[in-house]
Amino acid sequence: MAVLTTALDTPLLARAAAGRLLVGGEWREASSGERFAVVDPGNGAVLADVADATVDDGLAAVAAADAAADAWAATAPRERGEVLRRAFDLMTAHRDELARLITLENGKALTEARAEVGYAAEFLRWYSEEAVRADGRATTSPAGGSTILTRMAPVGLSVLVTPWNFPAAMATRKLGPALAAGCATVLKPAAETPLTALALADLLTTAGAPPGVVNVVPTRAAGPVVRAMLADPRARKVSFTGSTQVGQLLLRQAADRVLRVSMELGGNAPFIVLADADLDVAVASALVAKLRNGGQSCVAANRFYVHARVAEEFCARMGAAMARVRTGYGLDDGVEVGAMINERARDKAHGIVVDAVEAGARVVTGGRVIGSSGFFLEPTLLADTPHTARAFREEIFGPVAPVATFTDPDEAVAWANGTDAGLAAFVQSRDLSTALAVADALEAGMVGINRGVVSDPAAPFGGWKHSGLGREGGHEGLLEYLEPKYVAVSW
Ligand code: SIN
Repeated sequence: MAVLTTALDTPLLARAAAGRLLVGGEWREASSGERFAVVDPGNGAVLADVADATVDDGLAAVAAADAAADAWAATAPRERGEVLRRAFDLMTAHRDELARLITLENGKALTEARAEVGYAAEFLRWYSEEAVRADGRATTSPAGGSTILTRMAPVGLSVLVTPWNFPAAMATRKLGPALAAGCATVLKPAAETPLTALALADLLTTAGAPPGVVNVVPTRAAGPVVRAMLADPRARKVSFTGSTQVGQLLLRQAADRVLRVSMELGGNAPFIVLADADLDVAVASALVAKLRNGGQSCVAANRFYVHARVAEEFCARMGAAMARVRTGYGLDDGVEVGAMINERARDKAHGIVVDAVEAGARVVTGGRVIGSSGFFLEPTLLADTPHTARAFREEIFGPVAPVATFTDPDEAVAWANGTDAGLAAFVQSRDLSTALAVADALEAGMVGINRGVVSDPAAPFGGWKHSGLGREGGHEGLLEYLEPKYVAVSW
C-alpha cells in the first residue's frame, strides 16, 4: 500500500510509518502477514499501513513482557526514572514531528497536536520523578508489640489499551506510571492512530527501556487480541481508556482472572454558569471546554446549564466566539478545530444536532457538515435545548454545545447529576464559596472552577459512577501499578 513519504519524511516518522509490531525489542510483521491502512481523517488519504497483530502476536507480546518483567522490577527506581526522563527529553526534542504525526492520523489541528505532545511528555517527566516515591511505610500496631511494615511491589505485567482521541497522552499516561512502578507492558493502541504509539515506543527504546518492557501490538482485532492477553495467566493488570460499554466488557473479562483494573470511561460533563459569573471568563472557559480536541474528549463540556439572567448574553458571546473559530484541515495555518476522527463520529454528532433542532432547540451558530473530503462539522451552539434531546442524554464527542437555562442552582446541580456518568464538571461563578459548594454537590471525579480544562499530569484524573475506576496522573496514578505487601514484624 502506498505511503505518503512526503508527510512522514523524518527518520522517526518513517520508522513509525514502517508500521511494524514491537515485541521483545524487535520490530516485526504480524504472524498472519496482514496489514491495515491508517487514514488521514482530514482528507481520507491513506497515510501508511500497519502490521495487524493476531491473537498469537498479542500472546507473543505477553511472553516478551513476562521475560523482561523480573529484571525491570528489580531495576533501581532511579534508573527507571532516568529512562522516563530521557524519553521526556526525546519527546520534547521531537515535538514538531510528533505533532505532525498526530495531526495526520487523528485529524486534530496542529496547535492542538503540539499541545498534546507537551501534555503527553509531561506524564513521562512527572513519573520520572515519581519512580523514586513508591514509598511504603512502617507503623506500630495499635496493640503494640509488632511493626506493620507496608512495602510496595509492582503489580506486574500490564496490558494498556488506549484510544484515538489523544494518541500520545493516553499512552504516556499509562506507560509513565507502569514503567515507573517497575511493570512490563503491552500497549494496544487504537487502530485509527497506531503510528503515534509506534513512534513513542521507538523513543522509549532509544531512552533505554530494555527489550520486552514496552511492547506494542496495533490490531484491527482488538476484541480477540485483548481478550486473549487478559486471559493469559501472566497478565496482572489492565488499564483502559475508552467507552463505558467497552470498559464494562473488559471489566467482565478482568473479573475472570481478578486482574487489577484502571478504567477511564465515558463522560457527560455539565458546564454550569451561575448568575454572578464573569462572562468573559465563562465564555473563554466554555470555548476550550467544548472545542479542545474538537469536542472529542471524555472531559469535554457536554451540557451547558446557564442561569436565565445571563443566558442570552452568554449565548450571544459564545455563539460569536464559536463562529470565529477556524475549522479545517489540521495542518493548514490558522486552523483551530480539525477533522473528526471518522464519518461515523461526524454523523453521530450531526445527528445529535438534527435531533435537538427537531425537539425545539435554536441554532445560534453552526450546525452543518462541511468540507468535500474529510470529516468536518461546524462548531455548533444550540440554545433552548430540551432536556429530552439526545444532546443532553448522550456523550456528544464533537463540537456541539447544547444550552438550557435554570433559575435555581439546585436545579442545575440536579440536572448535572442526573446521569450515570461522573467524570468532569465545570462551574462558573465570581463567588468562590458558592462555586466550591456547587463543586461539592457535583457527582464527578474532577471539577473545574472558572476554567475549561482540568487535565494535569500531576492531578488524579478519573471518574465516579460509570465513568471509571481508579485514577491516572498524580501520585494516585502510580499507586494503580503498585501492590502493597504487609509484613508483620516482631522487632
Ligand atoms: C480523554 O478524553 O480521554 C482524556 C482527556 C484529557 O486527558 O484531557
